[in-house]
Amino acid sequence: MPPAMPADRARLLLVRAAPLLRLPTSPDRPPEVLPDGSGLRCSATSTTYPYRDGVLDVLGDTLEKTATQHLLDTPLTAWSYDRFRGWLTRALGTPDFPEEVAQIQQRLQVQAGDTVLDLACGHGNFTVEWAKRVGPEGLLIGLDISKAMLARAARHASRWGLANVLLIRGDAHRLPLADECLRKVNCSGGFHQFPDLAQALAEIGRVSAKGATLAASTFSQRPNDSRAGVKRWMKRRFQLHFVPLAWLGEELATLGYTDYESSLPGGWFGYTSARKAEES
Ligand SMILES: C[S@@+](CC[C@H](N)C(=O)[O-])C[C@H]1O[C@@H](n2cnc3c(N)ncnc32)[C@H](O)[C@@H]1O
Repeated sequence: MPPAMPADRARLLLVRAAPLLRLPTSPDRPPEVLPDGSGLRCSATSTTYPYRDGVLDVLGDTLEKTATQHLLDTPLTAWSYDRFRGWLTRALGTPDFPEEVAQIQQRLQVQAGDTVLDLACGHGNFTVEWAKRVGPEGLLIGLDISKAMLARAARHASRWGLANVLLIRGDAHRLPLADECLRKVNCSGGFHQFPDLAQALAEIGRVSAKGATLAASTFSQRPNDSRAGVKRWMKRRFQLHFVPLAWLGEELATLGYTDYESSLPGGWFGYTSARKAEES
């Protein structure tokens, strides 16, 4: 567990983020921040949403999880993923983490003062990287459904002394964020886990402002795939999707995105980016 954030710092962080946030019980207006920094209150229903151990929980216990989502929500798997991600991604043909960061940074151009959403932030590896770049004037929102992963993300943010990171336990299919409030969204390793990717993309499109950039990496389908049998099994057993990158481009186009780029280097992952058109 990370050392408890002082109440005044927690309150300050929530006050900064509140204009961007929308609670499930009142999606049309910003929430109230509880005076002691212990969470948010919905101004319509007075429901409270706790901010505890560095994580704001807007999800509660309502979500039906897939096998993979269950698997990634235990302290042991979260620890193992955190500890061994480098080995795992290397085995799957992904570049080392610093190289991944550099490639995504080329697309997102994260800079001081930015507000960035790190969707499916997991243990906070990219969250921490972008938080360092946006600096004290910026804000990093890391969102994930896994308590265990978010606990690790909170620990990393605290270890780096980052006061500009708001971690939210929430669902990509119903983002607790205002319309068109973001200009940069990163989603590394999340798309293949979302049961309804089209719905999650629609949510990303809704919260992204005109001109906003999206960068993502995902397990991807490839033509004449020698691993097609394994992938079918992984879909059946773990509800992991191998996303056709052409389909992804088409979906994003219907949501008003342009400048779609994708690459399928060699391993399991494909990389994509797109920009929401200035005019729609
Ligand atoms: C493979 S991890 C990626 C973590 C990190 N972004 C990285 O690249 O190492 C995928 C994450 O997606 C999260 N996830 C799965 N379904 C989700 C959903 N519906 N909404 C938000 N996060 C979700 C999982 O809990 C998990 O932490």
